[in-house]
Amino acid sequence: MTITNKTATLSFDDKQLTLPMHSPTAGPDVIDIRKLYAEGGVFTYDPGFTSTASCDSTITFIDGDKGELLHRGYPIDQLAGKSHYLEVCYLLLYGELPSAEQLEDFENRVTMHTMLHEQMTYFFRGFRRDAHPMAIMVGVVGAMSAFYHDSTDITDPWQREVASIRLIAKMPTIAAWAFKYHIGQPLVHPRNDLDYASNFLRMCFAVPTEDYEVNPILSRAMDRIFTLHADHEQNASTSTVRLASSSGANPFACIAAGIACLWGPAHGGANQACLEMLREIGTVDRIPMFIDRAKDKGDPFRLMGFGHRVYKNFDPRAKVMKQSADEVLELLGVDDNPVLQVAKELESAALADPYFAEKKLFPNVDFYSGIILEAMGFPTSMFTPIFAVSRTVGWISQWKEQLEDPAHKIGRPRQLYMGATTRDYVNVEDR
Ligand code: SDX
Repeated sequence: MTITNKTATLSFDDKQLTLPMHSPTAGPDVIDIRKLYAEGGVFTYDPGFTSTASCDSTITFIDGDKGELLHRGYPIDQLAGKSHYLEVCYLLLYGELPSAEQLEDFENRVTMHTMLHEQMTYFFRGFRRDAHPMAIMVGVVGAMSAFYHDSTDITDPWQREVASIRLIAKMPTIAAWAFKYHIGQPLVHPRNDLDYASNFLRMCFAVPTEDYEVNPILSRAMDRIFTLHADHEQNASTSTVRLASSSGANPFACIAAGIACLWGPAHGGANQACLEMLREIGTVDRIPMFIDRAKDKGDPFRLMGFGHRVYKNFDPRAKVMKQSADEVLELLGVDDNPVLQVAKELESAALADPYFAEKKLFPNVDFYSGIILEAMGFPTSMFTPIFAVSRTVGWISQWKEQLEDPAHKIGRPRQLYMGATTRDYVNVEDR
Protein backbone atom coordinates (compact mmCIF):
# COMPACT_ATOMS: atom_id res chain seq x y z
CA MET A 1 0.00 0.00 0.00
CA THR A 2 1.41 3.38 -0.95
CA ILE A 3 0.83 5.95 1.81
CA THR A 4 0.24 9.38 0.35
CA ASN A 5 -0.36 12.71 2.14
CA LYS A 6 -3.76 12.95 0.46
CA THR A 7 -6.68 13.16 2.82
CA ALA A 8 -10.48 13.22 2.62
CA THR A 9 -12.60 15.48 4.79
CA LEU A 10 -15.93 14.19 6.03
CA SER A 11 -18.37 16.66 7.60
CA PHE A 12 -21.62 15.67 9.29
CA ASP A 13 -23.59 16.85 12.33
CA ASP A 14 -21.14 18.93 14.32
CA LYS A 15 -18.16 16.79 13.25
CA GLN A 16 -15.46 17.26 10.64
CA LEU A 17 -13.15 14.30 10.18
CA THR A 18 -9.94 14.13 8.18
CA LEU A 19 -9.42 10.64 6.79
CA PRO A 20 -6.15 9.43 5.24
CA MET A 21 -6.16 8.27 1.62
CA HIS A 22 -3.99 5.63 -0.05
CA SER A 23 -2.99 5.50 -3.70
CA PRO A 24 -2.61 2.05 -5.33
CA THR A 25 -0.19 1.14 -8.10
CA ALA A 26 -3.28 0.80 -10.32
CA GLY A 27 -6.97 1.58 -9.87
CA PRO A 28 -8.82 4.15 -7.75
CA ASP A 29 -7.49 5.77 -4.59
CA VAL A 30 -9.03 4.55 -1.34
CA ILE A 31 -10.26 6.45 1.70
CA ASP A 32 -9.04 4.74 4.87
CA ILE A 33 -12.08 4.56 7.19
CA ARG A 34 -10.57 2.26 9.81
CA LYS A 35 -10.85 4.97 12.47
CA LEU A 36 -14.22 6.33 11.31
CA TYR A 37 -16.32 4.66 14.01
CA ALA A 38 -13.86 5.40 16.82
CA GLU A 39 -13.52 9.07 15.85
CA GLY A 40 -16.91 9.76 14.24
CA GLY A 41 -19.27 7.27 15.85
CA VAL A 42 -20.72 6.22 12.49
CA PHE A 43 -20.45 3.22 10.14
CA THR A 44 -20.30 3.27 6.36
CA TYR A 45 -23.02 1.38 4.51
CA ASP A 46 -22.17 -0.67 1.42
CA PRO A 47 -24.14 -3.97 1.12
CA GLY A 48 -22.60 -5.96 -1.76
CA PHE A 49 -19.34 -4.03 -1.27
CA THR A 50 -19.78 -2.11 -4.53
CA SER A 51 -17.44 0.67 -3.29
CA THR A 52 -15.44 -1.10 -0.59
CA ALA A 53 -11.86 -2.36 -0.68
CA SER A 54 -11.72 -5.24 1.81
CA CYS A 55 -7.94 -5.65 1.72
CA ASP A 56 -4.79 -4.65 -0.08
CA SER A 57 -3.40 -7.20 -2.51
CA THR A 58 -0.65 -7.60 -5.09
CA ILE A 59 -2.06 -10.64 -6.90
CA THR A 60 -4.71 -9.63 -9.46
CA PHE A 61 -5.87 -6.32 -10.88
CA ILE A 62 -9.04 -5.73 -12.90
CA ASP A 63 -9.86 -2.57 -14.82
CA GLY A 64 -13.59 -3.05 -15.43
CA ASP A 65 -13.91 -0.08 -17.76
CA LYS A 66 -11.04 -1.16 -20.00
CA GLY A 67 -11.85 -4.87 -19.70
CA GLU A 68 -8.33 -5.55 -18.42
CA LEU A 69 -7.23 -8.42 -16.14
CA LEU A 70 -3.65 -8.68 -14.82
CA HIS A 71 -2.13 -11.47 -12.76
CA ARG A 72 0.96 -10.06 -10.97
CA GLY A 73 1.00 -7.46 -13.79
CA TYR A 74 0.79 -9.90 -16.72
CA PRO A 75 -2.31 -9.46 -18.99
CA ILE A 76 -4.59 -12.50 -19.06
CA ASP A 77 -4.57 -12.74 -22.86
CA GLN A 78 -0.75 -13.05 -22.85
CA LEU A 79 -0.84 -15.68 -20.11
CA ALA A 80 -3.60 -17.62 -21.90
CA GLY A 81 -1.65 -17.47 -25.15
CA LYS A 82 1.94 -18.02 -23.96
CA SER A 83 1.81 -19.67 -20.53
CA HIS A 84 0.01 -22.67 -19.07
CA TYR A 85 -1.99 -23.32 -15.93
CA LEU A 86 0.70 -24.62 -13.57
CA GLU A 87 3.05 -21.80 -14.55
CA VAL A 88 0.22 -19.33 -13.79
CA CYS A 89 -0.29 -21.15 -10.47
CA TYR A 90 3.37 -20.53 -9.64
CA LEU A 91 3.00 -16.86 -10.65
CA LEU A 92 -0.09 -16.37 -8.50
CA LEU A 93 1.40 -18.16 -5.48
CA TYR A 94 4.92 -16.73 -5.49
CA GLY A 95 4.59 -13.45 -7.40
CA GLU A 96 7.01 -14.01 -10.30
CA LEU A 97 7.22 -16.20 -13.40
CA PRO A 98 9.40 -19.23 -12.55
CA SER A 99 12.74 -20.11 -14.09
CA ALA A 100 12.80 -23.39 -16.00
CA GLU A 101 14.21 -25.15 -12.94
CA GLN A 102 11.66 -23.60 -10.58
CA LEU A 103 8.83 -24.57 -12.92
CA GLU A 104 10.04 -28.17 -13.24
CA ASP A 105 10.36 -28.47 -9.46
CA PHE A 106 6.88 -26.98 -8.91
CA GLU A 107 5.26 -29.24 -11.50
CA ASN A 108 6.95 -32.27 -9.92
CA ARG A 109 5.73 -31.29 -6.46
CA VAL A 110 2.17 -30.93 -7.73
CA THR A 111 2.37 -34.21 -9.66
CA MET A 112 3.54 -36.05 -6.53
CA HIS A 113 0.43 -34.91 -4.63
CA THR A 114 -2.34 -35.78 -7.13
CA MET A 115 -3.39 -39.01 -5.38
CA LEU A 116 -6.03 -39.03 -2.64
CA HIS A 117 -5.81 -41.00 0.61
CA GLU A 118 -7.36 -44.38 -0.28
CA GLN A 119 -9.73 -44.09 2.69
CA MET A 120 -11.36 -41.08 0.98
CA THR A 121 -12.90 -43.37 -1.63
CA TYR A 122 -15.31 -44.48 1.09
CA PHE A 123 -16.26 -40.85 1.62
CA PHE A 124 -17.30 -40.58 -2.04
CA ARG A 125 -19.32 -43.79 -1.78
CA GLY A 126 -21.35 -42.28 1.06
CA PHE A 127 -23.08 -39.94 -1.37
CA ARG A 128 -26.14 -40.83 -3.44
CA ARG A 129 -25.23 -41.42 -7.08
CA ASP A 130 -27.34 -38.43 -8.12
CA ALA A 131 -25.56 -36.04 -5.74
CA HIS A 132 -24.48 -32.86 -7.54
CA PRO A 133 -20.68 -33.00 -8.02
CA MET A 134 -20.41 -29.62 -6.26
CA ALA A 135 -22.07 -31.12 -3.16
CA ILE A 136 -19.47 -33.90 -3.25
CA MET A 137 -16.61 -31.39 -3.69
CA VAL A 138 -17.74 -29.23 -0.78
CA GLY A 139 -17.89 -32.33 1.42
CA VAL A 140 -14.70 -34.03 0.28
CA VAL A 141 -12.54 -30.88 0.37
CA GLY A 142 -13.82 -30.03 3.84
CA ALA A 143 -13.06 -33.62 4.88
CA MET A 144 -9.42 -33.25 3.74
CA SER A 145 -8.75 -31.64 7.13
CA ALA A 146 -9.65 -35.03 8.63
CA PHE A 147 -7.04 -36.78 6.46
CA TYR A 148 -4.14 -34.35 6.12
CA HIS A 149 -3.58 -33.24 9.72
CA ASP A 150 0.09 -32.47 9.02
CA SER A 151 -0.84 -29.44 6.90
CA THR A 152 -3.56 -27.72 8.92
CA ASP A 153 -1.45 -25.49 11.19
CA ILE A 154 -1.76 -22.13 9.43
CA THR A 155 0.92 -20.56 11.64
CA ASP A 156 3.56 -22.88 10.12
CA PRO A 157 4.79 -21.60 6.73
CA TRP A 158 5.86 -25.10 5.72
CA GLN A 159 2.39 -26.54 6.47
CA ARG A 160 0.80 -23.66 4.54
CA GLU A 161 3.01 -24.52 1.57
CA VAL A 162 2.16 -28.25 1.77
CA ALA A 163 -1.57 -27.52 2.06
CA SER A 164 -1.36 -25.22 -0.98
CA ILE A 165 0.33 -27.86 -3.12
CA ARG A 166 -2.01 -30.60 -1.89
CA LEU A 167 -5.11 -28.58 -2.75
CA ILE A 168 -3.91 -27.56 -6.23
CA ALA A 169 -2.80 -31.13 -6.93
CA LYS A 170 -5.82 -32.99 -5.57
CA MET A 171 -8.68 -30.85 -6.83
CA PRO A 172 -8.67 -32.40 -10.34
CA THR A 173 -8.75 -35.87 -8.78
CA ILE A 174 -11.61 -34.91 -6.46
CA ALA A 175 -13.61 -33.30 -9.30
CA ALA A 176 -12.97 -36.23 -11.66
CA TRP A 177 -13.93 -38.77 -8.99
CA ALA A 178 -17.10 -36.79 -8.20
CA PHE A 179 -17.94 -37.03 -11.92
CA LYS A 180 -17.12 -40.74 -12.20
CA TYR A 181 -19.10 -41.54 -9.06
CA HIS A 182 -22.03 -39.46 -10.38
CA ILE A 183 -22.16 -41.45 -13.64
CA GLY A 184 -21.50 -44.81 -12.01
CA GLN A 185 -18.12 -45.51 -13.61
CA PRO A 186 -14.97 -46.76 -11.83
CA LEU A 187 -12.72 -44.10 -10.33
CA VAL A 188 -9.59 -43.48 -12.44
CA HIS A 189 -6.33 -42.70 -10.66
CA PRO A 190 -4.03 -39.88 -11.78
CA ARG A 191 -0.87 -40.65 -13.75
CA ASN A 192 2.51 -39.01 -13.23
CA ASP A 193 3.42 -39.02 -16.92
CA LEU A 194 0.58 -36.66 -17.89
CA ASP A 195 0.35 -32.89 -17.60
CA TYR A 196 -2.27 -31.32 -15.33
CA ALA A 197 -5.05 -30.84 -17.90
CA SER A 198 -4.43 -34.17 -19.66
CA ASN A 199 -4.50 -35.97 -16.32
CA PHE A 200 -7.85 -34.41 -15.52
CA LEU A 201 -9.38 -35.30 -18.90
CA ARG A 202 -8.14 -38.89 -18.58
CA MET A 203 -9.50 -39.26 -15.04
CA CYS A 204 -12.86 -37.99 -16.31
CA PHE A 205 -13.18 -39.92 -19.57
CA ALA A 206 -10.97 -43.05 -19.39
CA VAL A 207 -12.66 -46.41 -18.81
CA PRO A 208 -10.94 -49.69 -17.85
CA THR A 209 -12.06 -51.39 -21.05
CA GLU A 210 -9.85 -49.43 -23.42
CA ASP A 211 -6.84 -47.14 -23.60
CA TYR A 212 -7.52 -43.41 -23.46
CA GLU A 213 -5.53 -41.09 -25.66
CA VAL A 214 -5.70 -37.40 -24.70
CA ASN A 215 -6.39 -35.15 -27.69
CA PRO A 216 -3.78 -32.35 -27.50
CA ILE A 217 -6.23 -29.73 -28.74
CA LEU A 218 -8.75 -30.65 -26.04
CA SER A 219 -6.00 -30.75 -23.44
CA ARG A 220 -4.82 -27.30 -24.51
CA ALA A 221 -8.40 -25.98 -24.36
CA MET A 222 -8.84 -27.53 -20.89
CA ASP A 223 -5.60 -25.94 -19.71
CA ARG A 224 -6.72 -22.59 -21.12
CA ILE A 225 -10.05 -22.85 -19.26
CA PHE A 226 -8.11 -23.55 -16.07
CA THR A 227 -5.84 -20.54 -16.75
CA LEU A 228 -8.74 -18.18 -17.47
CA HIS A 229 -10.55 -19.00 -14.22
CA ALA A 230 -7.51 -19.04 -11.90
CA ASP A 231 -8.07 -15.84 -9.96
CA HIS A 232 -10.20 -12.73 -10.08
CA GLU A 233 -9.31 -10.41 -7.17
CA GLN A 234 -11.93 -10.12 -4.39
CA ASN A 235 -14.92 -11.90 -5.98
CA ALA A 236 -17.57 -13.46 -3.76
CA SER A 237 -15.91 -16.86 -3.29
CA THR A 238 -12.44 -15.40 -2.73
CA SER A 239 -13.85 -12.99 -0.18
CA THR A 240 -15.53 -15.99 1.48
CA VAL A 241 -12.16 -17.78 1.69
CA ARG A 242 -10.51 -14.67 3.14
CA LEU A 243 -13.26 -14.22 5.73
CA ALA A 244 -13.16 -17.91 6.74
CA SER A 245 -9.37 -17.76 6.95
CA SER A 246 -9.47 -14.63 9.13
CA SER A 247 -10.86 -16.74 12.01
CA GLY A 248 -7.85 -19.08 11.77
CA ALA A 249 -9.81 -21.93 10.14
CA ASN A 250 -7.69 -24.61 8.46
CA PRO A 251 -7.02 -24.28 4.70
CA PHE A 252 -9.25 -27.18 3.69
CA ALA A 253 -12.23 -25.72 5.57
CA CYS A 254 -11.59 -22.31 3.97
CA ILE A 255 -11.46 -23.74 0.44
CA ALA A 256 -14.62 -25.77 1.10
CA ALA A 257 -16.31 -22.47 2.03
CA GLY A 258 -15.09 -20.96 -1.23
CA ILE A 259 -16.48 -23.90 -3.21
CA ALA A 260 -19.84 -23.50 -1.50
CA CYS A 261 -20.00 -19.81 -2.42
CA LEU A 262 -18.85 -20.40 -6.01
CA TRP A 263 -21.78 -22.80 -6.51
CA GLY A 264 -24.33 -19.96 -6.68
CA PRO A 265 -25.80 -19.21 -10.17
CA ALA A 266 -24.89 -15.52 -9.84
CA HIS A 267 -21.22 -16.54 -9.50
CA GLY A 268 -19.50 -19.76 -10.54
CA GLY A 269 -22.78 -21.56 -11.15
CA ALA A 270 -23.48 -19.18 -14.05
CA ASN A 271 -21.75 -21.42 -16.61
CA GLN A 272 -24.17 -24.25 -15.84
CA ALA A 273 -27.10 -21.82 -15.72
CA CYS A 274 -25.97 -20.23 -19.01
CA LEU A 275 -25.97 -23.51 -20.91
CA GLU A 276 -29.34 -24.47 -19.42
CA MET A 277 -30.63 -21.07 -20.54
CA LEU A 278 -29.28 -21.56 -24.08
CA ARG A 279 -30.99 -24.95 -24.19
CA GLU A 280 -34.25 -23.43 -22.92
CA ILE A 281 -34.08 -20.79 -25.65
CA GLY A 282 -33.49 -23.69 -28.04
CA THR A 283 -33.78 -21.90 -31.37
CA VAL A 284 -32.65 -18.55 -32.72
CA ASP A 285 -36.22 -17.36 -33.33
CA ARG A 286 -36.95 -17.50 -29.57
CA ILE A 287 -34.09 -15.13 -28.66
CA PRO A 288 -36.14 -11.88 -28.81
CA MET A 289 -38.64 -13.28 -26.29
CA PHE A 290 -35.85 -14.07 -23.80
CA ILE A 291 -34.18 -10.71 -24.31
CA ASP A 292 -37.49 -9.02 -23.55
CA ARG A 293 -37.79 -11.11 -20.37
CA ALA A 294 -34.25 -10.11 -19.33
CA LYS A 295 -35.22 -6.44 -19.74
CA ASP A 296 -38.51 -6.81 -17.87
CA LYS A 297 -38.10 -5.53 -14.30
CA GLY A 298 -41.04 -7.64 -13.25
CA ASP A 299 -39.37 -10.81 -14.51
CA PRO A 300 -36.55 -12.29 -12.37
CA PHE A 301 -35.03 -13.86 -15.51
CA ARG A 302 -31.53 -12.63 -16.36
CA LEU A 303 -29.30 -13.50 -19.28
CA MET A 304 -26.87 -15.92 -17.64
CA GLY A 305 -23.32 -15.35 -18.79
CA PHE A 306 -23.97 -11.61 -19.19
CA GLY A 307 -23.08 -8.78 -16.88
CA HIS A 308 -20.48 -8.42 -14.20
CA ARG A 309 -20.03 -6.44 -11.00
CA VAL A 310 -16.69 -5.08 -12.17
CA TYR A 311 -16.47 -5.43 -15.96
CA LYS A 312 -18.39 -2.68 -17.71
CA ASN A 313 -16.70 -3.73 -20.91
CA PHE A 314 -16.02 -7.13 -22.45
CA ASP A 315 -14.66 -9.64 -19.91
CA PRO A 316 -11.18 -10.23 -21.41
CA ARG A 317 -11.50 -13.89 -20.48
CA ALA A 318 -14.63 -14.21 -22.61
CA LYS A 319 -12.71 -13.03 -25.66
CA VAL A 320 -10.08 -15.75 -25.25
CA MET A 321 -12.75 -18.30 -24.36
CA LYS A 322 -14.62 -17.49 -27.57
CA GLN A 323 -11.48 -18.30 -29.62
CA SER A 324 -11.15 -21.60 -27.78
CA ALA A 325 -14.80 -22.40 -28.37
CA ASP A 326 -14.35 -21.99 -32.12
CA GLU A 327 -11.21 -24.20 -32.11
CA VAL A 328 -12.77 -26.99 -30.05
CA LEU A 329 -16.05 -27.04 -31.93
CA GLU A 330 -14.26 -27.07 -35.28
CA LEU A 331 -12.06 -29.95 -34.07
CA LEU A 332 -15.06 -31.89 -32.85
CA GLY A 333 -16.99 -31.09 -36.00
CA VAL A 334 -19.79 -29.58 -33.98
CA ASP A 335 -19.44 -26.01 -35.14
CA ASP A 336 -23.02 -26.27 -36.28
CA ASN A 337 -23.95 -27.03 -32.67
CA PRO A 338 -27.45 -25.52 -32.17
CA VAL A 339 -26.48 -24.29 -28.73
CA LEU A 340 -23.51 -22.45 -30.22
CA GLN A 341 -25.71 -20.96 -32.92
CA VAL A 342 -28.10 -19.67 -30.27
CA ALA A 343 -25.13 -18.38 -28.21
CA LYS A 344 -23.65 -16.47 -31.14
CA GLU A 345 -27.02 -14.99 -32.17
CA LEU A 346 -27.87 -14.13 -28.55
CA GLU A 347 -24.55 -12.36 -28.09
CA SER A 348 -25.09 -10.31 -31.26
CA ALA A 349 -28.69 -9.46 -30.36
CA ALA A 350 -27.87 -8.47 -26.76
CA LEU A 351 -24.87 -6.35 -27.75
CA ALA A 352 -27.02 -4.53 -30.30
CA ASP A 353 -29.77 -3.86 -27.78
CA PRO A 354 -29.71 -0.39 -26.11
CA TYR A 355 -30.71 -1.91 -22.73
CA PHE A 356 -27.56 -3.97 -22.48
CA ALA A 357 -25.40 -1.22 -23.93
CA GLU A 358 -26.70 1.35 -21.45
CA LYS A 359 -26.22 -1.00 -18.49
CA LYS A 360 -22.84 -2.11 -19.86
CA LEU A 361 -23.82 -5.75 -19.82
CA PHE A 362 -21.31 -7.78 -21.84
CA PRO A 363 -20.66 -11.51 -22.08
CA ASN A 364 -18.57 -12.72 -19.14
CA VAL A 365 -16.24 -15.67 -18.70
CA ASP A 366 -19.15 -18.04 -18.17
CA PHE A 367 -20.82 -17.33 -21.49
CA TYR A 368 -18.52 -19.47 -23.66
CA SER A 369 -16.91 -21.81 -21.14
CA GLY A 370 -20.06 -23.93 -20.88
CA ILE A 371 -20.19 -24.38 -24.65
CA ILE A 372 -16.63 -25.69 -24.73
CA LEU A 373 -17.15 -28.00 -21.78
CA GLU A 374 -20.35 -29.41 -23.26
CA ALA A 375 -18.60 -30.04 -26.57
CA MET A 376 -15.88 -31.90 -24.65
CA GLY A 377 -18.51 -34.24 -23.22
CA PHE A 378 -18.98 -32.80 -19.73
CA PRO A 379 -22.52 -32.64 -18.30
CA THR A 380 -23.58 -29.16 -17.12
CA SER A 381 -23.28 -30.38 -13.51
CA MET A 382 -19.49 -30.56 -14.03
CA PHE A 383 -19.08 -26.96 -15.22
CA THR A 384 -18.83 -25.35 -11.79
CA PRO A 385 -16.61 -28.11 -10.33
CA ILE A 386 -14.17 -27.35 -13.18
CA PHE A 387 -14.36 -23.67 -12.27
CA ALA A 388 -13.60 -24.68 -8.64
CA VAL A 389 -10.57 -26.76 -9.72
CA SER A 390 -9.15 -23.74 -11.52
CA ARG A 391 -10.00 -21.15 -8.87
CA THR A 392 -8.39 -23.14 -6.05
CA VAL A 393 -5.01 -21.54 -6.82
CA GLY A 394 -6.59 -18.09 -6.65
CA TRP A 395 -8.28 -18.86 -3.35
CA ILE A 396 -5.05 -20.32 -1.94
CA SER A 397 -2.91 -17.41 -3.17
CA GLN A 398 -5.24 -14.87 -1.57
CA TRP A 399 -5.46 -17.02 1.60
CA LYS A 400 -1.65 -17.14 1.76
CA GLU A 401 -1.33 -13.39 1.14
CA GLN A 402 -3.75 -12.62 3.96
CA LEU A 403 -2.04 -14.97 6.45
CA GLU A 404 1.38 -13.51 5.62
CA ASP A 405 0.10 -9.99 6.37
CA PRO A 406 1.09 -9.33 10.01
CA ALA A 407 -1.69 -6.72 10.24
CA HIS A 408 -4.45 -9.16 9.24
CA LYS A 409 -7.30 -9.57 11.74
CA ILE A 410 -10.62 -11.38 11.95
CA GLY A 411 -13.19 -9.95 9.53
CA ARG A 412 -16.23 -8.69 11.41
CA PRO A 413 -18.52 -6.29 9.46
CA ARG A 414 -21.10 -4.15 11.29
CA GLN A 415 -24.67 -3.41 10.15
CA LEU A 416 -27.41 -0.84 9.70
CA TYR A 417 -29.83 -2.16 12.35
CA MET A 418 -33.49 -1.62 11.42
CA GLY A 419 -35.09 -4.04 13.87
CA ALA A 420 -37.06 -3.56 17.10
CA THR A 421 -35.50 -1.47 19.87
CA THR A 422 -35.44 -2.75 23.48
CA ARG A 423 -38.79 -4.14 24.68
CA ASP A 424 -39.83 -6.36 27.61
CA TYR A 425 -40.74 -10.06 27.30
CA VAL A 426 -44.47 -10.81 27.21
CA ASN A 427 -45.70 -14.06 28.76
CA VAL A 428 -47.57 -16.28 26.34
CA GLU A 429 -50.86 -15.90 28.24
CA ASP A 430 -50.63 -12.13 27.78
CA ARG A 431 -49.91 -12.06 24.04
C1 SDX B 1 -18.61 -14.65 -12.18
O1 SDX B 1 -16.95 -11.18 -9.20
C2 SDX B 1 -16.29 -11.87 -10.04
O2 SDX B 1 -15.17 -11.56 -10.38
C3 SDX B 1 -17.00 -13.14 -10.50
C4 SDX B 1 -16.30 -13.93 -11.61
C5 SDX B 1 -15.02 -14.54 -11.15
O3 SDX B 1 -14.20 -14.86 -12.00
O4 SDX B 1 -14.91 -14.80 -9.90
O5 SDX B 1 -16.04 -13.06 -12.73
C6 SDX B 1 -17.20 -15.06 -12.08
O6 SDX B 1 -19.35 -14.78 -11.22
C7 SDX B 1 -19.08 -14.00 -13.45
C8 SDX B 1 -20.57 -13.55 -13.36
C9 SDX B 1 -21.42 -14.78 -13.63
N1 SDX B 1 -22.86 -14.47 -13.37
C10 SDX B 1 -23.73 -14.41 -14.35
O7 SDX B 1 -23.46 -14.48 -15.56
C11 SDX B 1 -25.18 -14.29 -13.85
C12 SDX B 1 -25.89 -13.19 -14.65
N2 SDX B 1 -25.33 -11.90 -14.28
C13 SDX B 1 -26.05 -11.12 -13.24
O8 SDX B 1 -26.59 -11.94 -12.22
C14 SDX B 1 -25.24 -9.92 -12.77
O9 SDX B 1 -24.75 -9.31 -13.88
C15 SDX B 1 -24.10 -10.12 -11.79
C16 SDX B 1 -24.52 -10.83 -10.57
C17 SDX B 1 -22.98 -10.84 -12.44
C18 SDX B 1 -23.62 -8.72 -11.40
O10 SDX B 1 -24.66 -8.12 -10.75
P1 SDX B 1 -24.46 -6.66 -10.08
O11 SDX B 1 -23.10 -6.14 -10.22
O12 SDX B 1 -25.02 -6.72 -8.68
O13 SDX B 1 -25.29 -5.78 -11.01
P2 SDX B 1 -26.81 -5.53 -10.82
O14 SDX B 1 -27.49 -6.83 -10.48
O15 SDX B 1 -26.98 -4.38 -9.93
O16 SDX B 1 -27.23 -5.15 -12.31
C19 SDX B 1 -27.13 -3.83 -12.75
C20 SDX B 1 -28.34 -3.67 -13.67
C21 SDX B 1 -29.65 -4.10 -13.00
O17 SDX B 1 -30.67 -3.33 -13.57
P3 SDX B 1 -31.20 -2.03 -12.73
O18 SDX B 1 -31.60 -2.54 -11.34
O19 SDX B 1 -30.02 -1.08 -12.66
O20 SDX B 1 -32.37 -1.51 -13.53
O21 SDX B 1 -28.18 -4.54 -14.80
C22 SDX B 1 -29.22 -5.52 -14.81
C23 SDX B 1 -29.84 -5.53 -13.44
O22 SDX B 1 -31.22 -5.88 -13.52
N3 SDX B 1 -28.57 -6.79 -15.11
C24 SDX B 1 -29.03 -7.69 -15.98
C25 SDX B 1 -28.07 -8.72 -15.98
N4 SDX B 1 -27.10 -8.43 -15.13
C26 SDX B 1 -27.41 -7.24 -14.58
N5 SDX B 1 -30.15 -7.72 -16.75
C27 SDX B 1 -30.30 -8.81 -17.52
N6 SDX B 1 -29.44 -9.85 -17.60
C28 SDX B 1 -28.30 -9.83 -16.83
N7 SDX B 1 -27.44 -10.83 -16.90
